[in-house]
Amino acid sequence: MKNLRRLSGVFLFVLIPTLAFFAASAMGNEPVAGGAFSKGEALFNANCSKCHGVRGTGTDKGPPLVHRIYHPNHHSDLSFQWAVERGATAHHWRFGNMPPIKGLTRQDVDLIIKYVRDLQKDAGIF
Ligand code: HEC
Repeated sequence: MKNLRRLSGVFLFVLIPTLAFFAASAMGNEPVAGGAFSKGEALFNANCSKCHGVRGTGTDKGPPLVHRIYHPNHHSDLSFQWAVERGATAHHWRFGNMPPIKGLTRQDVDLIIKYVRDLQKDAGIF
């Protein structure tokens, strides 16, 4: 009985914080797809949000992507791949050109596109 109580003390004060720590750091490295913080969102925040804003709402360096201009019928998924690969010449706005964004695979950009499409859907754009 005494041992059991000691064991549960170990469980509460050592094991649980340790598990919570590892769970949190695992989530930071490999966000769960479809979770509150998906890999697409992490990639977007690391590579796009400094110009396109957190959740694609725009900044003084780039336009919002959650905007009817970027409706999938007007800017297809392929145009997103091209913008990342080759950059984009300013034509819709006055922010200047978008430079090519290095270090992303096509699969990474697919995840970013999915994230942006989800934001657009949430905003009622399509
Ligand atoms: C250094 C700033 C900057 C960064 C970083 C950036 N963009 Fe852009 N992006 C721009 C600007 C400015 C435009 C608007 C060009 C214009 O006037 O139409 C743009 C336009 C676009 C367009 C529209 C292209 C078109 O054909 O009209 C897409 C799609 C896009 N960005 C996606 C992304 C994605 C995805 C990322 C991250 C991987 C990203 N951007 C990172 C500045 C940026």
